[in-house]
Amino acid sequence: MEKEKFTDEYVASLTIPEHVAVIMDGNGRWAQAKGEPRTYGHIVGSDVVEDMVEIASNLGIKYFTVYAFSTENWKRSEGEVSVLFSLFSEHLKKLQVKSAENNVRCIIIGDKSRLDDDLNKTIDELETSSKNNTGMTFVIAINYGGRDEITRSVKKIASEVQSGKISPDEITEDMISDHLDTGGLPDPDLLIRTGGEQRISNFLLWQCAYSEFYYCDTCWPDFDRNELIKAIEKFNKRDRRFGGVK
Ligand code: IPE
Ligand code: IPE
Ligand code: MG
Repeated sequence: MEKEKFTDEYVASLTIPEHVAVIMDGNGRWAQAKGEPRTYGHIVGSDVVEDMVEIASNLGIKYFTVYAFSTENWKRSEGEVSVLFSLFSEHLKKLQVKSAENNVRCIIIGDKSRLDDDLNKTIDELETSSKNNTGMTFVIAINYGGRDEITRSVKKIASEVQSGKISPDEITEDMISDHLDTGGLPDPDLLIRTGGEQRISNFLLWQCAYSEFYYCDTCWPDFDRNELIKAIEKFNKRDRRFGGVK
């Protein structure tokens, strides 16, 4: 029934945010509510990500970023972490084909040094094979933490100062942005969090300075095109002032 809620004409009348970022939350609770193990939620959730890449791209979103694994998610059981990483490996391989079909450029952000060689190889192949695609940019955050990213960026800038390449006075906000994993990408316009929690959980701390936040109770495995359009609809009603007065 909900499928017919948004007509093509209505969707065409909406302003589509250039960059949408998603904290895909609620996989575990969704599965547990069905009497299934938490990992079942990750399996279904990872299929939803695949669908959303096409949906987001067809809606005209230019940058679509998803939070897949945080620097804090290592605290989970070895079993859950291992299922998550086998899903990343499986889906990143599939994405190599899908990104070619859909002209999508893929970028992985986060600290890749903790990921194993096989996964790093898959990531390299995906990024390289898709780097000249001119459609949507799909950013996946794996072993990503906003504080960790800022710390790594500060270290890079500090070594440039130490080597005499730049002086401390030359450090600007743009320079800091460029040294983050997201260097060269625009900041998110809309940040969606599914699963009912209303917090940022260490995601894109620097980049979300002026993002519009949208929270929904729907758990990630149930997220679909209608849910995304609902978020975009709410975004259309926001008055973005960026500290100014309208
Ligand atoms: C999000 O769902 C996926 C990851 C964090 C990897 P959760 O696994 O956090 O699901 P809940 O929040 O426990 O339901
Ligand atoms: C945020 O979800 C991380 C991802 C979606 C990958 P969490 O489930 O880890 O966040 P908390 O623990 O509820 O803050
Ligand atoms: Mg969670």
